[in-house]
Amino acid sequence: MTNVDLPTRDRFGSKFGVIAATAGSAIGLGNIWRFPYVLGENGGGAFLLIYLIFVLAIGIPVMMSEFIIGRSAQLNPVGAFKKLAPRKPWFLIGIMGVGAAFMILAFYAVIAGWTLEYIYQSIANGFKDKSPAELGVMFDSFREGSVRPVIWFLVFMAFTALIVSAGVKNGIEKYAKILMPILLVLLIILCIRAVTFKGAGAGLAFLFKPDFSIFSDFKAATSTILKALGQAFFSLSIGMGTLITYGSYISKKDNLATTAVTVSLADTFIAVLAGVAIFPVVFAFGINAAEGEDLVYKTLPIIFQQMSGGYIFSLMFFLLLGLAALTSTISVLEVVVAYFVEELGMVRKRATLVATLCISFLGLFAAASWGWFKNLTLFKQNVFGILDFTSANILLPLGGLFIVLFIGWYYGRKRSGQELSAEGTLKVRYLPFFIFIVKFVAPIAIALVFLNLFGVFNFN
Ligand code: PHE
Repeated sequence: MTNVDLPTRDRFGSKFGVIAATAGSAIGLGNIWRFPYVLGENGGGAFLLIYLIFVLAIGIPVMMSEFIIGRSAQLNPVGAFKKLAPRKPWFLIGIMGVGAAFMILAFYAVIAGWTLEYIYQSIANGFKDKSPAELGVMFDSFREGSVRPVIWFLVFMAFTALIVSAGVKNGIEKYAKILMPILLVLLIILCIRAVTFKGAGAGLAFLFKPDFSIFSDFKAATSTILKALGQAFFSLSIGMGTLITYGSYISKKDNLATTAVTVSLADTFIAVLAGVAIFPVVFAFGINAAEGEDLVYKTLPIIFQQMSGGYIFSLMFFLLLGLAALTSTISVLEVVVAYFVEELGMVRKRATLVATLCISFLGLFAAASWGWFKNLTLFKQNVFGILDFTSANILLPLGGLFIVLFIGWYYGRKRSGQELSAEGTLKVRYLPFFIFIVKFVAPIAIALVFLNLFGVFNFN
């Protein structure tokens, strides 16, 4: 196997660019929209604690494993496994990843589309003088109307496709570098306003004080643990090859371990900040914490209304949230496009077009899940819910399981160490620890969560 970089492959231009692009993929609606809603449905502080454990013990090692695979192979997720494990079935992990990318983008761009509606509402001053209840109704009727969510979804898909067709360095990296830091500042300001509401304390207690009583019920505990694992994978963009793809664009000299740790911590920090901005409002205004996937869109406008400069603030916030979502959607689409280009021999523009059209078709059903297609359900979940649940809670952890097994048991300590050491230029004293985790700890933990889910083990 050669380590020579293929001259035709695009790559990230700088170390900061790598972190910005990877963090851009990780940080997005998963932190600001999904984390608070899933935490709210799963009991608050106890969920946060399990989530943190999963990020540290499983998330970071999986992320490093993906980087190793991508940078060693210099290929998309399917091609990478084919190259590192010729004539072995490992490439099926890559295929599963491409499938997961389809499903994720189909519902993720729907939520991103809601952000566009809220940018529009901010400009039109649509939140003005509305009570919290009226703001809730406003959101519901927007979503049930179907036409606008579908249009905004398609607009968002088009933006994503435009950037992806421009390629990695010109498209992805350039935007991520400037936008992420600004989003952070805005989020901090929102937190400050949120914690000064009367009654905010209850929200902070909900978020930070674990209530372990959920563990007395086996079914609730199992589902909470699974959802914390799924959320960790989703938020870190791991388990489907996004970071294999991005890893293949990272320079051979970069330190993969510090990149993984930096990005994971930044991602977790932003999710917690989102919780700090949202739960005080939830409790101060009597909103249901387990409201569901509309939680953020119903609570944030309340803050904007109650702060000075709220008009400009809400505009900026939803704009940046949309852009944070964009740096994530491009990383999802990139998985499919890199696969089409490198494995199916399409040119980049055509690959982007084909992928976008297919995903947009699936996404139409997700976008109109509360309107036209609200009766299209499975296990009481609408199309949106099915895509969200299956991809985050099943496909990503399953992909992650196979990725760590691949590194731990197939690719092995020697070659992994070589890649992590950037060809011998970096010290990798943590290597035995890393290998122990990917060989035993992470696979066993993920497998236990799954077996629990299927009711094979009952720890009560
Ligand atoms: N991590 C992204 C977010 O939190 C979503 C994502 C999932 C991106 C999987 C790529 C792969 O918004």
